[in-house]
Amino acid sequence: MRVLITGAQGQVGQELTRLAPADFSVIGLGSNELDISNPEQVVSRIGEFKPQLIINAAAYTAVDKAETDSERAYAVNAKGAENLAASAATLGIPLLHISTDYVFSGDACTPYKETDPTGPTGVYGASKLAGELAVAKVCTQHVIMRTSWVFGAQGNNFVKTMLRLAQTRDVLGVVADQHGCPTSAASIAKALWSLASHYRNNGKLNWGTYHFSNMPATTWHGFAEEIFSQAVALKILTKSPQVNPINTQDYPTPARRPSWSVMDCCLIEEKLSITQSDWQDELREMLKGMAI
Ligand SMILES: NC(=O)c1ccc[n+]([C@@H]2O[C@H](COP(=O)([O-])OP(=O)(O)OC[C@H]3O[C@@H](n4cnc5c(N)ncnc54)[C@H](OP(=O)(O)O)[C@@H]3O)[C@@H](O)[C@H]2O)c1
Repeated sequence: MRVLITGAQGQVGQELTRLAPADFSVIGLGSNELDISNPEQVVSRIGEFKPQLIINAAAYTAVDKAETDSERAYAVNAKGAENLAASAATLGIPLLHISTDYVFSGDACTPYKETDPTGPTGVYGASKLAGELAVAKVCTQHVIMRTSWVFGAQGNNFVKTMLRLAQTRDVLGVVADQHGCPTSAASIAKALWSLASHYRNNGKLNWGTYHFSNMPATTWHGFAEEIFSQAVALKILTKSPQVNPINTQDYPTPARRPSWSVMDCCLIEEKLSITQSDWQDELREMLKGMAI
């Protein structure tokens, strides 16, 4: 089966390419090879490669910048997703699309279910929600996978920021009143390949919108402490900085951050047999790769 991966140079895109099962023929295109916001380019690239399934890992992910760059955020996250969905629908092939917990307001205190009302508070979340709606409307054969707090060996993410700061700082203040589930890019890639394999073997999937993250829930502060503890154990760091808990108000950002990003991932297990792994194990795997 031929699979086209968009955003192939991103955190998830690179893991999708690295972890592609040998029995798939994979074409991974970075933004320089396929700009998903360009409808003519989408049609021509898809016509050229004739994929039998598309995985969209491309997105405008600069949450703060999106507040002043909303046109571009919508061009990629909404129109870009729609362009891919339209091409997939024309060809009668599925689109596996990645979305985010930012489609919710982040004010809850119990894990978000797929049926909970959305209510993004910033441009990034609103543009991703517009993308979800377009995909669901235009392409029946779709899976939208909402995930959260993505980390991996490639690209920029919280783990790499913490490791970098630890080189020069003895004391760090890290937000302790935002709750979420860190999720490795590798585990997202594995889940998506599992869906692709199921589709290839059965010619169908339980199409729809699903939540997927690693578990259990923590805070950025809890995540930072675990990163430093594992990095010291693996000798990536000689010592851990002191990690002081701070509040969101002590770390102002242009885009509001959700205080609650935790999602209920029961549905994806029930309907698509995708189970949640532990982010601490996923983190160890990532750090082991960096320690070599
Ligand atoms: N990162 C997180 O914490 C997080 C959390 C929840 C959900 N998600 C979702 O997970 C998915 C993957 O995110 P990620 O963490 O892998 O993000 P990422 O590392 O920022 O990768 C996104 C990729 O998309 C590419 N891209 C941007 N505009 C494009 C365009 N017009 N056409 C084609 N490619 C374009 C980027 O290329 P350039 O760098 O060249 O622009 C980048 O390589 C996204 O849907 C994101 O919304 C991420």
